[in-house]
Amino acid sequence: MKNLFLAGALGLLIFSCSKKENTTEIASSDAASAPAQSNLSGDQIMETLDCSGCHSVNERMIGPSYQEIAAKYSDKDIELLASKIIEGGSGVWGGVPMAAHPQVSKEDAKKMVEYILSQKK
Ligand code: HEC
Repeated sequence: MKNLFLAGALGLLIFSCSKKENTTEIASSDAASAPAQSNLSGDQIMETLDCSGCHSVNERMIGPSYQEIAAKYSDKDIELLASKIIEGGSGVWGGVPMAAHPQVSKEDAKKMVEYILSQKK
């Protein structure tokens, strides 16, 4: 009698555990199908990436400052600059190439460009 009770309790435990696992799995696959990092702003996305290793807001480092970029371009260049962030490129500011970021979505790249352009003095 006691063993039967134990087996029942164990069964219930396993059942409730696997049920819990299923729901978390559904929740995480939902998150994965949503657009990447859609609730972060441009500057927050840049904090998760390597941009600040080569760029700063007001000083030229390895790459041009965000203020210099904002002075050179306007809103009509968002598309162009977004693909530059994703694909990299060179020859605009000097001999040093801009690093590619193939892991970045177009949507996130545009948010970063909008942030950079908003640094205009
Ligand atoms: C390894 C250094 C490096 C990293 C990391 C880097 N950049 Fe650059 N970036 C550069 C250089 C160098 C240039 C100038 C390229 C050129 O002359 O065409 C540049 C240019 C740019 C431009 C202007 C492009 C143009 O055509 O005028 C933008 C916008 C930009 N970077 C954004 C970013 C963002 C956003 C990140 C982070 C996701 C980032 N960069 C990471 C080095 C870097």
